[in-house]
Amino acid sequence: MTEIQEILFDEETISGKVKELGAQISRDYAGKDLLLVSVLKGAVIFTADLVRRITFPVTLEFIQAASYGKSVTSSGNVLLLKRLETDIQNRHVLLVDTIIDTGETMHCLFKEFAGKNPASLNAAVLLDKKSCRTVEIRIAYCGFEVPDKFVVGYGMDCGGKYRNLPYIAALKSDNS
Ligand code: IMP
Ligand code: MG
Repeated sequence: MTEIQEILFDEETISGKVKELGAQISRDYAGKDLLLVSVLKGAVIFTADLVRRITFPVTLEFIQAASYGKSVTSSGNVLLLKRLETDIQNRHVLLVDTIIDTGETMHCLFKEFAGKNPASLNAAVLLDKKSCRTVEIRIAYCGFEVPDKFVVGYGMDCGGKYRNLPYIAALKSDNS
């Protein structure tokens, strides 16, 4: 029995939006040395597609943050499981995640990174659950706004599963 309720964004829609975001980032950072910092594990697929839509050479780093575990609601606690291993002082840093929900993860990462004096610090997300925000945060690049539904696919998981779906879907809630 499938737990998928409905497909929200199909492959073509995602790919079109990623292309747009890549073009925007390419324009904005032209002539600059851009360091992309991707948030494991959920951002892996989005990052892989996004970097290939950026028209100049970028550097790519990974960090890992965990806030959810197996639950589908945010715990509000962000744990850094893998830290940045490179010096970001005077570098143009762009944090990449597939989805922003409460904003706690991104807020924590911004705080951590801002203290290291980057030349600039911005974020790119494919999906924004704006109505769930508990902290104020500016997202420079955002693909789609989504309602407060738990979504999976295109790198996003539920209990470790569904990351490999090529589309983004909403999961059935317990009572649907
Ligand atoms: P935030 O700290 O509440 O903004 O949550 C951000 C993190 O929670 C993301 O990096 C995702 O890993 C995870 N997350 C938030 N919403 C969803 C969702 O609907 N599906 C899967 N993961 C999600
Ligand atoms: Mg997760």
